[in-house]
Amino acid sequence: MSSNQQAFPVISLKLADENATERLAASFAPLLCGKQAGLAAGGRIHLRGDLGAGKTCFVRAFLRAAGIQGRIKSPSYALLESYNLSSLHFYHLDFYRFSDSREWLDAGFRDILQEQAIVLIEWPEQAGALLPPPDLDIHLEHEDEGRSAVLTAYSDKGSLWLTTLFPATPAHRPPTPEGGA
Ligand SMILES: Nc1ncnc2c1ncn2[C@@H]1O[C@H](COP(=O)(O)OP(=O)(O)OP(=O)(O)O)[C@@H](O)[C@H]1O
Ligand SMILES: [Mg+2]
Repeated sequence: MSSNQQAFPVISLKLADENATERLAASFAPLLCGKQAGLAAGGRIHLRGDLGAGKTCFVRAFLRAAGIQGRIKSPSYALLESYNLSSLHFYHLDFYRFSDSREWLDAGFRDILQEQAIVLIEWPEQAGALLPPPDLDIHLEHEDEGRSAVLTAYSDKGSLWLTTLFPATPAHRPPTPEGGA
């Protein structure tokens, strides 16, 4: 397969209630925190979805499961909340009110690009092209009383997370040409 046809996994889930969102988030914590054999700590997750879709809920449960104690504030006004736990550095960003890219480039951009940084970003689309692609994109949408979630890997690391958590994950392949095998 040529490199521009690389098949990264994608998975769709139904999250019936808040607990389901929290369980999903918690399941990612060991993978990004270096607790999984063969997976170095670090990684970037983008969380997309409307107001109230459950992005902050996901991040809070993730950080709790990673061992962060005390108050976990929503970073809406500060743009960035960060946490340290032994050698791990966590960055929770929310670009909903993002406007000044200069300020941001000074404030925290370099930190989140570190290989071992654990980065979760709400409203990444508000930052335009400023952000590099994540390892994993999670798109949450209201569905009945619950939420739907589409998880798409954009790197080998993100692919490994998905295939570890969901061993039956199908690869997302570009459509085959008409009549092709
Ligand atoms: N799977 C789910 N089913 C039903 N409710 C859920 C689910 N997951 C989370 N919620 C609820 O959705 C509400 C909104 O969540 P949250 O604040 O995380 O949204 P958000 O996406 O961060 O919104 P914003 O864009 O305003 O930051 C919370 O009350 C949470 O309990
Ligand atoms: Mg939020």
